[in-house]
Amino acid sequence: MTDSISVLATIKELRQTVGDWRAAGEKITLVPTMGALHDGHLSLVKLASETGDRTVVSIFVNPAQFAPHEDFDSYPRENEKDLEQLAELDVDLVFMPPRDEVYRQDFSTRVTVEDLSEGLCGASRPHFFGGVATVVAKLLNQCRPDVAIFGEKDYQQLLVIRRMARDLDLDVEIIGGPIIREADGLAMSSRNAYLSAEEREKAPLLHQAISEIAEALSNNVTTGDLLNKGRKNLTQSGFDVDYLEVRNADTLAPIEGRVKGQVRIFAAAILGKTRLIDNIAVPTPRK
Ligand code: PAJ
Repeated sequence: MTDSISVLATIKELRQTVGDWRAAGEKITLVPTMGALHDGHLSLVKLASETGDRTVVSIFVNPAQFAPHEDFDSYPRENEKDLEQLAELDVDLVFMPPRDEVYRQDFSTRVTVEDLSEGLCGASRPHFFGGVATVVAKLLNQCRPDVAIFGEKDYQQLLVIRRMARDLDLDVEIIGGPIIREADGLAMSSRNAYLSAEEREKAPLLHQAISEIAEALSNNVTTGDLLNKGRKNLTQSGFDVDYLEVRNADTLAPIEGRVKGQVRIFAAAILGKTRLIDNIAVPTPRK
């Protein structure tokens, strides 16, 4: 462990430290993560230090958002490296609770956000957003930040969390940060580490596909054929496409035909054993 950064493992210590900052009138920003940090996470940490006086980063691989058949056990855990990276930034505190600090043995509560959780990733991962909403509600309650920051990489998650915070009257502002990509367009993700060299070469095709669709939609092409062609191309390149859809950026209502208003394209596809997700805004269509 590095000794240049403050790491706390208990809710009690977190509350005490953050409580002192709050009492001194400081603005506190929380960046929740599951670790294995990359430049996408670090961009949110930088945004946090521009937003408030104190930045708290949490690292907790949340078992409640993984189904039994998913990758909880193999999910990358790189605590030492994470702390080294965070020590380079303006971070006041890292909260790294052990599993039983967050979930006692008889833990029995689950936060469900209906509607927004139902399509896209919620369709193939029905347990996922309940697990996310539950842990984020807990983290927000443990830390009580003024602001919490989440990435647009997980855009549906961002909307689910924003709705959860509003519905539960949590006194926190939820801010979204832009997607950080590799030079070839692949959205950064801790799970990219699972890709073989050959898969890593193909992976940017997902971003390429949604970018091309976004461009066509902004030129008033209609959705149907574009999406079918996009799915077909990705499948031919070796992706197992989970979804490729056009949705309203605020409500996630499906869009068909010609796009109007704030619209995003959402995609999830499996390459080998790795599930990749990505999304992109459609530029306002030309009249
Ligand atoms: P994790 O996947 O570690 O991501 C932590 C935060 O980093 C999320 O808000 C995510 O959207 C953001 N992020 C990931 N990749 C990004 C990228 N390429 N560009 C910008 N932001 C990116 O998302 C989770 O953890 C968990 O579900 C969590 C919210 C911590 C609850 O357990």
